[in-house]
Amino acid sequence: MIMPATKTAPVADVPPLLACVTDDVTAQGLHRLAGERGWPDGAVRCGDLADAAALLARMRTPPLLLIDLTGTADPLADLGALAEVCDPDTRVIALGTVNDVNLYRDLREMGVEDYLVKPVAPEALAAALDRAPEPPRTADGDGTEETARLTAVVGARGGVGATTVAVNLAWLLANAHHRRTALVDLDLYFGTTALALDLEPGRGFREALETPGRIDGLFIERATVRAGERLFVLDAEEDMDRAIRLVPDAVDLLLEKMCQSFERVVIDLPRDALAGGDVAKSAGDVILVGDLSLAGMRDMLRLREYLSKVAPDTRQHLVINRVGLLGRGEMPRGAFEKGIEARVDLMLPFDAATFMDSANKGKAAPEVARKSKAVAGLADLARRIDPPAGAARTGGSLFGRLLGRKAA
Ligand SMILES: Nc1ncnc2c1ncn2[C@@H]1O[C@H](COP(=O)(O)OP(=O)(O)OP(=O)(O)O)[C@@H](O)[C@H]1O
Ligand SMILES: [Mg+2]
Repeated sequence: MIMPATKTAPVADVPPLLACVTDDVTAQGLHRLAGERGWPDGAVRCGDLADAAALLARMRTPPLLLIDLTGTADPLADLGALAEVCDPDTRVIALGTVNDVNLYRDLREMGVEDYLVKPVAPEALAAALDRAPEPPRTADGDGTEETARLTAVVGARGGVGATTVAVNLAWLLANAHHRRTALVDLDLYFGTTALALDLEPGRGFREALETPGRIDGLFIERATVRAGERLFVLDAEEDMDRAIRLVPDAVDLLLEKMCQSFERVVIDLPRDALAGGDVAKSAGDVILVGDLSLAGMRDMLRLREYLSKVAPDTRQHLVINRVGLLGRGEMPRGAFEKGIEARVDLMLPFDAATFMDSANKGKAAPEVARKSKAVAGLADLARRIDPPAGAARTGGSLFGRLLGRKAA
């Protein structure tokens, strides 16, 4: 049975497609197609564009929409209204009775995948659906790569500001991007992430790495320390008298569990912990932080090459921090980039006032100096790691373009 679009309960599961058409003949053809392709009940509905909009306002948008423009006085404006209630990724195929090349052109220009003039044979419908491109994969929601949630921050040399970058990145993901974020400090003896946020390190991190069987959701909840509504810190200040008897794969297991509990996980990763490449392989992104010194160049190059070898699928982001601190002792950017055989992604200025204030107050830099250039750079980095939905996902789709135009 073909359901009317408006007289149903909200749809909980997202079907692969939603078809909303005004006439019985097209609906029956689609219904047959639904049977052949195993679309769930409710994927084919009777209704016009307004009915489709009302329905879509109550459900998560399917990746593909088939909508009927029949009876719509101003299809372009009404499609704009539909975009308000849909995900920007969604691909749209339109049907209608108006056989006008200008309308076809306008719709295509807006990002509609195809426009079919009714009556449409079921084979033509099937072919149009098959031609519609897949929406791009994102780091969110169902069917996503878990690795995309994990970002490791590594200093190419000691003291270049890796912890500063990790702490502020995690803070921005939690507070500016509204992601439930964990900040993990894998320097169990000398880690400073908790200190940077004026927190006491939690308890249980060492035990977890020595007895990974204990790592579960409850452990994570107990061992992490909360730094605001969405930021959780896992950090330790272990006694140097006691060596940690790290059980193989414990870190992997810990990070896997953390990825299940949080939307984003940022690891402050000591260089030594990179050896073996396991964490780097699990991470979707690695941020290498360095400086414009000769030794910094050598180590950035070595780390880059190592990462490219052991974790070729991991995205590398090269950050030069404290630019200006070394004055004339700094290499020019061009020479540095030549030396590391890659472009630097971000240069963060030396800004003693901001970071001293941040350290003294135990607050993230964006909290103490929202307008500083260094904070703007860190915000840029956060956007690279967690791009805004529109920027990452528009990909030329109808709603992506419409929403993008609106935001501009
Ligand atoms: N852009 C910057 N401008 C000024 N000071 C900075 C900047 N970035 C970091 N700092 C300061 O530099 C010092 C070292 O930073 P941080 O602890 O983040 O480095 P690190 O690479 O993690 O060091 P370690 O190798 O000891 O782990 C800190 O005092 C921090 O506040
Ligand atoms: Mg550090």
